[in-house]
Amino acid sequence: MRVLVGITGASGAAFAIDFLKRCPGERFLIVSEWGKAVLKDELGLSPADLAPWVTRTFADGDLAAPFSSGTIRHDAFVIVPCSASTMAKIAAGIADTLITRAAAVTLKERMRLVLALRETPLSTGMLENALRISRDGGIIAPIMPPLYHRPQTLDGAVAGFTAKLLALCGVETGPGWHEDRLQQENPAALTHGDPAARPDATGRERGAP
Ligand SMILES: Cc1cc2nc3c(=O)[nH]c(=O)nc-3n(C[C@H](O)[C@H](O)[C@H](O)COP(=O)(O)O)c2cc1C
Repeated sequence: MRVLVGITGASGAAFAIDFLKRCPGERFLIVSEWGKAVLKDELGLSPADLAPWVTRTFADGDLAAPFSSGTIRHDAFVIVPCSASTMAKIAAGIADTLITRAAAVTLKERMRLVLALRETPLSTGMLENALRISRDGGIIAPIMPPLYHRPQTLDGAVAGFTAKLLALCGVETGPGWHEDRLQQENPAALTHGDPAARPDATGRERGAP
């Protein structure tokens, strides 16, 4: 497995570190200039400190790096955290840094692009940028840690989101939600043959209060 990881200047450097630590296989890293600033600001780290979890780091200004070309294949390019600025450039097809060029290549070559967007609230323009990338085959995965596994620490919450990113990269991350119940005899399941009894998008059963 070969994964390209981009860190940009959005808040949430801890999500990048956790992803690098847990992702199997080759991990190639690119950190934008503002990504370096936020990494230092939030965690007191520089890109060199990430070396134990990285196969090789490329400079964001190095447009002659292998990932500038579609002849180099990767299983996924994950930008975590992804700033609204980088997302806007990708949506517009601007490719003047290695992160944005590798994203353009990933989309044109129909490889997997995952943007862990970190911004809130989102303007209409940002939402339109996200839609354009999604229509082009990219995956918009805003940094939203799940809480249903009841994390007791910030690290636990971060790990919950990392599991989401890994799953998007095709990495096995353990059983899914209530997976044990798939094989259980459950009388309530008998009602699920009736479409009128299925839950609607809110999780309530139709007709339920
Ligand atoms: C401490 C700090 C936190 C920031 N947090 C965010 C953020 O959460 N989301 C975002 O879109 N931009 C954020 N920014 C702004 C980006 O860093 C800025 O738009 C920058 O141009 C992004 O460049 P890059 O995408 O090439 O890294 C932050 C900036 C700083 C200095």
